[in-house]
Amino acid sequence: MAARVRKAVFPVAGLGTRFLPATKSVPKEMLPVVDRPLIQYAVDEALEAGIEQLIFVTGRGKVAIEDHFDVAFELETTQTNRGKPLSALKGTRLKPGDCVFVRQQEPLGLGHAIWCAREIVGNEPFAIFLPDEFMVGAPGCMKQMVDAYEQVGGNMICALEVDPSETSSYGVIDPGARNGALTEVRGLVEKPKPGTAPSNLIVAGRYILQPDVMRILETQEAGAGGEIQLTDAMARMIGTQPFHGVTFNGDRYDCGSKLGFAEANFALAMSMPDIGPKLRTFARQLIEQEAATDLAGGSVD
Ligand code: G1P
Repeated sequence: MAARVRKAVFPVAGLGTRFLPATKSVPKEMLPVVDRPLIQYAVDEALEAGIEQLIFVTGRGKVAIEDHFDVAFELETTQTNRGKPLSALKGTRLKPGDCVFVRQQEPLGLGHAIWCAREIVGNEPFAIFLPDEFMVGAPGCMKQMVDAYEQVGGNMICALEVDPSETSSYGVIDPGARNGALTEVRGLVEKPKPGTAPSNLIVAGRYILQPDVMRILETQEAGAGGEIQLTDAMARMIGTQPFHGVTFNGDRYDCGSKLGFAEANFALAMSMPDIGPKLRTFARQLIEQEAATDLAGGSVD
């Protein structure tokens, strides 16, 4: 039987330059999708999947993430004294020991960020969450992966199809046999040049890996973009251990891009009973206005 996945690593040291100036002093992981920061969705997904220890690989300027998951003494006391409920803070208090923070001191790549957590991960399988990838599903993405992992063990990545024009932004899978939600991984390439991708199946920001990857990362040389790539280290495990992609049954938003981030906010707000109906009316009005402007010859297209 596969060893249980108890630990998860959240690499959150990135500078978030695509969202400047919003991310000048606010970590990109703290940008909200409607009313919760992105990182909290990933943490909730991890807890739902049975993860017990959350390891954040942070960097300078990321203290807001630590504060978010801490006790907020002034806020909680003030709200309580005013007779206000604390329900909005649900899920934001992590117990000491259940969350650990380590720093990646230099931006040497995702592979290096994961390697920074090696002492805390130790010698057991672990999950990785890239919080930019916002996954909405019931059960959540990692729970679906853990369920699959309990059947086949080894290494798992969340695999999703994208438009072939987008593959150069991602890790891409060379797929083998497919069995239900599982696809055998025969090869992996990080950010292939346009026209050279082995498929349109990408690595979508969720992983369950065996601890051997840490030893491989130790000697992993820089790859795409001059960075130490997790994808390259994973590729070296193929053939030595089972390796599968899991097709996530749910919705995925790439919140590392402005479009994906706006789509996530819109879709989630639309699904909320308190604001969804009004937003739908507003969206309809906007589209009708645009169509009317086009008809009146106001469009510059
Ligand atoms: C990282 C990984 C890549 C993966 C992607 C998912 O890339 O290196 O393999 O497909 O996340 O979002 P990044 O977005 O950090 O460039």
